[in-house]
Amino acid sequence: MTTPTLVNHQVRLAQRPETTATREHWNFTTEPVAEPSEGGVLVQTLSLSLDPAMRGWLNDAKSYIPPVAIGEVMRAGGVGRVIASQNPAFAVGDTVYGTLGVQEYVLVPQEALKRVGLVKIDLRLGTVGQWLNVLGMPGMTGYFGLLDIGQPQPGQTVVVSAAAGAVGQTVGQLARIKGCRAVGIAGGPAKCDWVVKELGFDACIDYKAGPSAVREGLKQHCPSGVDVYFDNVGGDILDQVLARLARKARVIVCGAISQYNNANSMPGAGPRNYLSLLVNRARMEGMVVFDYAERFPQAIAELAGYLKDGRMQSKEDVVQGLDQFPETLNKLFAGGNFGKLVLQVAPA
Ligand SMILES: NC(=O)c1ccc[n+]([C@@H]2O[C@H](COP(=O)([O-])OP(=O)(O)OC[C@H]3O[C@@H](n4cnc5c(N)ncnc54)[C@H](OP(=O)(O)O)[C@@H]3O)[C@@H](O)[C@H]2O)c1
Repeated sequence: MTTPTLVNHQVRLAQRPETTATREHWNFTTEPVAEPSEGGVLVQTLSLSLDPAMRGWLNDAKSYIPPVAIGEVMRAGGVGRVIASQNPAFAVGDTVYGTLGVQEYVLVPQEALKRVGLVKIDLRLGTVGQWLNVLGMPGMTGYFGLLDIGQPQPGQTVVVSAAAGAVGQTVGQLARIKGCRAVGIAGGPAKCDWVVKELGFDACIDYKAGPSAVREGLKQHCPSGVDVYFDNVGGDILDQVLARLARKARVIVCGAISQYNNANSMPGAGPRNYLSLLVNRARMEGMVVFDYAERFPQAIAELAGYLKDGRMQSKEDVVQGLDQFPETLNKLFAGGNFGKLVLQVAPA
């Protein structure tokens, strides 16, 4: 064991942001790394998943998970390597996924293994980046949101916003694999080009191209209406898509990133065009990915197969260094990430 010489660098919540979280909302701390006791495991963080949901966890508000407490290490899912183990289920050298937190090392006592959700992952199925993307939480969100709630039928039109992001890239590619037309909505020509030319979406609407770009784009690319809308952004784009729903359409309420930095800490404006649900006998349904945890292995096997046979691609946007956490997180809310945003803490 070499742990007595190791120092753990951590990022802790210093104060709650009203709007955008900036560097002053975080504390950078260090502490010595301790060895695991009976049943425990010590993990070195390799890469962390930076997610829009992290912004919500900073608000002192009721949600599907308690907020991060002031002074607590910031919550984050990540991939790590076991460097010491007193638990027969984990060996030194195993690659694992879990809620590791924004820190270089995490000591997981036996009683915390379930809370941290520590599971072994197989790097033969995908890279560390892919395990945080298609094979990880965003991929599971896209898979179960689209297939379970969206129930897409071959030939139907699936529209997904934040199409070049982590969840969006899985949704659109999966929609194509299931025989649907996939129309993305993304910010800027580079993302839209990639989504169509590399991922094989049928079309992508650049919502930044002008005030009527989404309305016009939906009219052009969804002439028979939208059968499934996978909503990642909320706000005005949601309203525009609602106005274009097909009869019996399904709207998956996955996220509303356009609203997360609102000062009142709750996603602000609701949809204006909701009566379109009535007229079109349509429905909207919210989803939380963790509800599907028992079925993750089935989804991972299917998605890993698509990655392997080339029917699916993945793109990760990797930033190096724990100290870059505050600015890197904010890339999500300005569209600064191109692909799944990953913070690499140590080489794999
Ligand atoms: N319900 C669940 O269980 C669950 C699980 C995972 C994620 N989610 C949600 O899924 C959504 C996507 O998450 P992700 O991890 O895949 O993030 P992501 O799409 O990789 O990154 C966020 C993207 O959102 C877009 N965006 C930011 N501000 C926007 C705005 N004002 N209007 C329109 N688009 C905006 C940006 O893309 P552009 O450059 O294209 O604007 C940005 O790159 C989020 O809402 C997240 O909260 C929900």
